[in-house]
Amino acid sequence: MENQDLLNQFQQKIDADIKIEPKDWMPDKYRQTLIRQISQHAHSEIIGMQPEGNWLTRAPSLRSKKILMAKIQDEAGHGLYLYCAAETLGVKREQFLQWLHEGKAKYSSVFNYPTLSWADMGAIGWLVDGAAIVNQVSLQGTSYGPYSRAMVKICMEESFHQRQGFEIMAQLAAGTAEQKEMAQDAINRWWWPSIMMFGPHDSESAHSNQSLKWRIKRESNDALRQRFIDKTIEQGHHLGLTFPDPKLHLNKETQHYDYSPINWDEFWNVVKGNGPGNKRRIRHHIKAHDDGKWVREAAKAYAEKINVKKKSA
Ligand code: 3HC
Repeated sequence: MENQDLLNQFQQKIDADIKIEPKDWMPDKYRQTLIRQISQHAHSEIIGMQPEGNWLTRAPSLRSKKILMAKIQDEAGHGLYLYCAAETLGVKREQFLQWLHEGKAKYSSVFNYPTLSWADMGAIGWLVDGAAIVNQVSLQGTSYGPYSRAMVKICMEESFHQRQGFEIMAQLAAGTAEQKEMAQDAINRWWWPSIMMFGPHDSESAHSNQSLKWRIKRESNDALRQRFIDKTIEQGHHLGLTFPDPKLHLNKETQHYDYSPINWDEFWNVVKGNGPGNKRRIRHHIKAHDDGKWVREAAKAYAEKINVKKKSA
């Protein structure tokens, strides 16, 4: 069938909200966009374990250590679901990791900032996972079947992440003056990197138009960012905390919060690898991958042994 007929048929499936599955015909650009976005999403989940892992041994109680441990383990699982979804598009996991290690693949810029106090565990759960939930709930409707199904599972666990972060912030905000100051300091440092997670403004987004047409994205970067801001400001005020944006105010006409211009120079500087933690994050990822080589080889040898046994049985 002519390419144009295939393209028309494909778009009709997309417009009818019929999920595209791995064995279905798809435009190469659709495949390439998904390979890029899903693998970068997976990298973000795995790299995102590092800033939080930094506080695992310094959690203030056994309960908070257990909760943080559970959250970090969830993120590893999210990464694995997403690498599996990305592999259905015909690229091996080793190739994704090689692109990451060579600086040819991105991960969310927010994970290149340092975690300086226990309050950062609260701010990350509440703000970073809160932003991820807004984005990922929308992505449950993405047109590619394996990605959409991975999102459903991930979103269920993500809501626990956001709540545990909010609980930490609520405890600190209701604590001593020093604890409240710690919580306020964490918001001051994590607010802007969290709203940058939604990507450039729609007018500057290189991929959004096509991704919206192909329903890879169901809502635009700015629409999701605004939803996150609107719901989070109220939560912060409930805690008696403020946000580092003097222009933040509820626009009576639109009923949305207006906010100051985002510092896109900072955003692109971090995306390009010059953030406070970029080099450390990749160095750590490469070392962990190299240190885990023997585990992968042992698991592979064991699987081959089992398969040989099955064949000879
Ligand atoms: N960090 C790093 N790079 C970013 C970025 C960010 N926050 N936002 C955008 N970019 C990059 C894009 O990757 C793209 O570069 P590329 O072409 O080299 O890949 C470029 O900036 C242009 O941006 P676009 O908006 O045109 O790109 P997309 O259409 O891909 O939209 C996105 C960006 C909204 C992040 C989209 O990719 C997306 O929804 N990804 C899935 C969600 C995701 O990755 N979330 C990351 C956080 S995961 C997480 O937080 C885990 C939680 O449990 C803690």
